[in-house]
Amino acid sequence: MTEEIRRGLAGVVADSTAISRVNPETNSLLYRGYPVQELADTQLFEAVALLLWNGELPTDDDLEWLRANGRPHRMLRDDVRAAIDALPLGSHPMDEVRTAVSVIGAREGEGESLLESGASREENVARSLRLFAALPAIVAYGQRRRHGLDPIPSREDLTYAQNFLWMTHGDLPDPVVVDAFNRSMILYAEHSFNASTFTARVITSTLSDLHSAVVGAIGALKGPLHGGANEMVMHTFDEIGTAGNVRPWLDTALAERRKIMGFGHRVYKHGDSRVPTMRAALGALVEHYDRPDVLALYEALEREFVERKGIYPNLDFPSGPAYHLMGFDTPTFTPLFVAARVTGWTAHILEQQADNSLIRPLAAYNGVPERHVQAAEPV
Ligand code: CMC
Repeated sequence: MTEEIRRGLAGVVADSTAISRVNPETNSLLYRGYPVQELADTQLFEAVALLLWNGELPTDDDLEWLRANGRPHRMLRDDVRAAIDALPLGSHPMDEVRTAVSVIGAREGEGESLLESGASREENVARSLRLFAALPAIVAYGQRRRHGLDPIPSREDLTYAQNFLWMTHGDLPDPVVVDAFNRSMILYAEHSFNASTFTARVITSTLSDLHSAVVGAIGALKGPLHGGANEMVMHTFDEIGTAGNVRPWLDTALAERRKIMGFGHRVYKHGDSRVPTMRAALGALVEHYDRPDVLALYEALEREFVERKGIYPNLDFPSGPAYHLMGFDTPTFTPLFVAARVTGWTAHILEQQADNSLIRPLAAYNGVPERHVQAAEPV
């Protein structure tokens, strides 16, 4: 039998999904049929979460359901705080988030007994909502803990984006900042069979539980070839320093065959459709905070790299400096991606559960040929 190997599953269609459509030919991304840019321009992130789970944009009643059922879970629970506090202060925030989701899964009673596994769709939607509601407090607490600051209680009267920034900084930022943050959450929410979502679907396909699938997805997202790239973009900005240093920095980086973070994509080869919307949000932040130096570096690196390599920026390129301007610590950037993508992950978990088939591919063996243990000499 000849086996065709598609390394990295590149170009392999592994299943179908009704959640989002990526079209690399037209550089477009649709969530449940809606262009992501339109959603980012017009919707609250919480409405997009409901769209991803339920397939339709929410009615006022749906939003009321989300508020009523989500808000009690916005606070930092004692068990989660204790688990984060038990980690060394120098732990990566992604490890804190991964640990916190594990604690929540145990609290939800998942995995208590495999004999009783298999929560209903309704219960799994409710669990998705509780997790979505809980993550901002976890991410905000991680950043505050690193600065020796106490957590800030969530506020009932605020939207998701406002409340996230409130719990992080303890004040209500300008609408320009809230808008940029809300847009980033929507743009990051869903992206078809990316590595972390596929991980969540693989775990779900074994009939494991929702929180186990999300914990696995967080592990996949942490890597710099995936979600970790938004953190790495900021390290690159710090390393380069100013726009004037871009050319010599790039000469050295390319000579060393380094990957330039925030550029390139497995699916989009002519540009990432989410970038212009996030680039516009970054522009508004640059103006608001009066930081033209950030935009100058952004533009210089983009121009030089695209000119030399013909490889375009992905969403992590504008979102890294945008999160920096919003006052997030650089290692907190990928946990922000978790808070957004948990909506897409859980939508895919629900879809996988609704029509499950164990995901179990094959491998072509290339190890030593069959051999046998030599019989031991009699003593
Ligand atoms: N910097 C330098 N060279 C690059 C880059 C880059 N960012 N991206 C691709 N290339 C080169 C690569 O070296 C290879 O060249 P050659 O054929 O000479 O070896 C060629 O382009 C093809 O790249 P590849 O890595 O084989 O392509 P892929 O489809 O496997 O990789 C990628 C996609 C995202 C892993 C890659 O572009 C990359 O490593 N980018 C940097 C990390 C990054 O920004 N990741 C975020 C991805 S999008 C959002 C998300 O998921 O978070």
